Amino acid sequence: MVKLSITRQNAGGIHMSRIGKKIVIVGAQWGDEGKGKLVDLYAEKADVVVRYEGGSNAGHTLVIAGRTYKLHLLPSGIVRSGKLCLFGPGGVFDLKIGCDELAIVREHGSRLVLDRNASVVLPIHRAIDAGREAAAGKSKIGTTLKGIGPAYADFWLRRSIKLGHLTSESKLREKLLDGGYWDELVALCVHLGVGTRVDINDLKLGMDPLSLDETVAWCMRYADQLCEYLGDTRKIAHERLDKGETVLFESAQGALISTHFEGGKFCTSSSRTPGGISTSMGIYNFDEVIGVTKAYTTRVGAGPFPTELDNEVGEGIRQKGAEFGTTTGRARRCGWLDLPALRYACRVAGITKLVVTKLDVLSGLARLQTCEAYEDVDKGDTLTEDVLETAVPIYEDHEPWSEDITSVRDVNDLPSAAENYLYKIRDSIGLPIASVSVGPDREAMVDLELWS
Ligand code: GDP
Ligand code: IMO
Ligand code: MG
Repeated sequence: MVKLSITRQNAGGIHMSRIGKKIVIVGAQWGDEGKGKLVDLYAEKADVVVRYEGGSNAGHTLVIAGRTYKLHLLPSGIVRSGKLCLFGPGGVFDLKIGCDELAIVREHGSRLVLDRNASVVLPIHRAIDAGREAAAGKSKIGTTLKGIGPAYADFWLRRSIKLGHLTSESKLREKLLDGGYWDELVALCVHLGVGTRVDINDLKLGMDPLSLDETVAWCMRYADQLCEYLGDTRKIAHERLDKGETVLFESAQGALISTHFEGGKFCTSSSRTPGGISTSMGIYNFDEVIGVTKAYTTRVGAGPFPTELDNEVGEGIRQKGAEFGTTTGRARRCGWLDLPALRYACRVAGITKLVVTKLDVLSGLARLQTCEAYEDVDKGDTLTEDVLETAVPIYEDHEPWSEDITSVRDVNDLPSAAENYLYKIRDSIGLPIASVSVGPDREAMVDLELWS
């Protein structure tokens, strides 16, 4: 009998050839951890930067040589000359915001490819988002109103418009009308009170989102600018990895608002963990998953927040940390560092090391605390919204420090209380801290450990 010999070499050829490095930057909290700043830093050494999910609900801030960039959609690598940036098929793309950000691509001479299979956020998706929030009244989610949930719903219903459909007006119209898609969207808007309970003018779209002709015209206005960037980002990323290049993946949001992990309604509609990359890009086995966490916690919109400081201490952190939404301008809710939530995010997102940001914001506090555990919740429990809703934090006090640390660049120059606070985080989470951010500027980093 002839035995089949299946060896690692001849069975795994396809994967074995992906020899480049795969680095992921993921938010380890509820968002706004400083992912943009970290992606910009790590992008220096990467060959390719990929935004693999999410849409213009994201707001990533980079502060470079006194100039502030607020990016919503395109990868944070676009400010680096010649850098290849990809917008993957798992994202939802707002045409107007995408075109606005093209100005940065042109100015910096970065290179951009938009996956022709990425889904388009239509103006009517924004109308549906607003209609749902208005209909929900007091139990609204507090979405960014960027149409993200409705656009992803259509993706999973297998009927979303893709960027590749924008190459021809007739194809776009045909796709919108296919199977009664457009009529269904309009009926949903009417049901939700768009045009009655929600004033269309308040959406500031500059067009009527319920008009098919205006929607087609709106799409085609931006299509002309975008079509030259269309391509197959999955193929490009695989080819680059095969060549041994380094690919950096940028998560749009924080792990805790991944669709799966809080498991309720206050999350956003995509998955930003490495699993989201595997699902959409077909890439596995990541070399490093860097979790970005603030030295405290914030959350925007509704949803449980066990360590929220709804008092003058929280207000002080909000003012000092400028905790106002990059996308919506809303005041972010602030609270002590929630270690059980961070530990959970690290576990479910496969995080291998941490970067702690905004340590400078904690300087000068009279009292400093972290939440060590929740009463009656085991360390390994799944932190669904239900669990978080009733979680009672157990706090631990830490020695505060008063020194301004924004100009510190060497860990030895940190006040010992600040250093101890970092050790506390490291030991409680059980992961190394690669670096610490002490200000918004690109340079404001302590012990930045980039791979070589
Ligand atoms: P992202 O969505 O995770 O990219 O984060 P955002 O850009 O929405 O929010 C982070 C905010 O904090 C931005 O305004 C950054 O410029 C700022 N920031 C980042 N790191 C630091 C830091 O270490 N200290 C201070 N004070 N601000 C920081
Ligand atoms: P960055 O990239 C913080 C939140 C919204 C809302 C929920 C659903 O800046 O970290 P959506 O519009 O996505 O349907 O809203 O998700 N949310 C964010 N919160 N930072 C973000 O992005 C967010 N993107 C979405 O506030 O609670
Ligand atoms: Mg943000």
